[in-house]
Amino acid sequence: MEKLLNISEFETAAGSALDRLYLDYYAGGAGDLSTLHRNIEAYAALAVHYRVFRDVSACDLSCEVLGRRLPHPIFAAPTAFHCLADPEGEVATARGLGAAGALMTLSSLSTRTLEDVAAASDAPKWYQLYINRDRGFTRNLIARVEAAGYGAIVVTADTPRWGTRYQDVRNGFHLPPGMDAVNLVRSHADADTLSHSGAGLGAAFDWMLDASLTWRDFEAVCAATRLPVLVKGVCRPDDAVAAFAAGAAGVVVSNHGGRQMESAPATIAVLPEIRMAVGPEKLLIVDGGIRRGADVLKALARGANAVQVGRPVLWGLAVGGSSGVARIVHLLKSELEQAMVLAGASSLREITPDLVAPWRG
Ligand code: FNR
Ligand code: LAC
Repeated sequence: MEKLLNISEFETAAGSALDRLYLDYYAGGAGDLSTLHRNIEAYAALAVHYRVFRDVSACDLSCEVLGRRLPHPIFAAPTAFHCLADPEGEVATARGLGAAGALMTLSSLSTRTLEDVAAASDAPKWYQLYINRDRGFTRNLIARVEAAGYGAIVVTADTPRWGTRYQDVRNGFHLPPGMDAVNLVRSHADADTLSHSGAGLGAAFDWMLDASLTWRDFEAVCAATRLPVLVKGVCRPDDAVAAFAAGAAGVVVSNHGGRQMESAPATIAVLPEIRMAVGPEKLLIVDGGIRRGADVLKALARGANAVQVGRPVLWGLAVGGSSGVARIVHLLKSELEQAMVLAGASSLREITPDLVAPWRG
């Protein structure tokens, strides 16, 4: 594993470590994959206009999020079914992220109980929620999340139904026997059969989504918990403004890693207009396509307070379990530090918008 020097090398190694069915599920995206690719290409289309002679002998990567000081701004996005990559699943992920000081958001579709994951490390964790059709079930889940010590709830808004992932349909993606979305199965009598029936994500996990959701339902979640609540999956300034008006503590600018709306814009492309609309103080986190430390610097320059990575954490988990996850974060963190030093920024505050612009020539 020490021979793998960047995320792209981990991705290649994960390709050999994972079963085809699961690799396709992790790596895949919606429709023609345009958004999946754009997320990445849009970072490559930005140059860093570095400064010189700024005393970068000490570089501080720490950031403050929801009143909490964190060692760096690289978080783990919520992703489903970690037991497909490692026998310990999300517990191994939590341990690796904890060791690397990275905030974890646990997916609703975790294959380990949210209590086991909470106990796996002392590091701060948030919980990602799909508002379930069964609102009583959702309220009970929120109570469990609070009792287990999660610090915030992240409501995913871009999933009124699942995106079309052709490869999963072709493969008949399903969970192997003995594996489940353990925190959710009780919400539907048929869930167990469906999750294992080889139907593709759409059919297998359709029972939990609710296409009738509106901002009122989001407000109801805010009212049902003492925890801060964020909205994930926003790509428009007006939606971000609506989120804060409805009581959000933060917004995750995300298109679900190109897995939901095909042809959704690249998140780094819409981030500046969203920052402009919500003002300088609001919490904005961005995900989608971040693969290098310089990408993190670009995201922060364009208005994010922090970033999340989804697939890279899965590559780390598949290749090296919890140590692989920790290594992924360490790589991104040292690349970010390198990018900051070479760009003349010794703290996140010094990563200003003028540092980044589209390539000329
Ligand atoms: C996801 N994502 C996701 N989001 C969410 O809110 N709940 C979930 O359960 C999942 N599950 C999931 C599974 C897999 C395999 C992937 C790749 C993604 C989306 C995720 O949180 C994040 O938005 C993207 O992964 C970010 O893009 P990158 O970093 O993977 O390019
Ligand atoms: C996905 C879901 C689980 O993108 O969010 O596969």
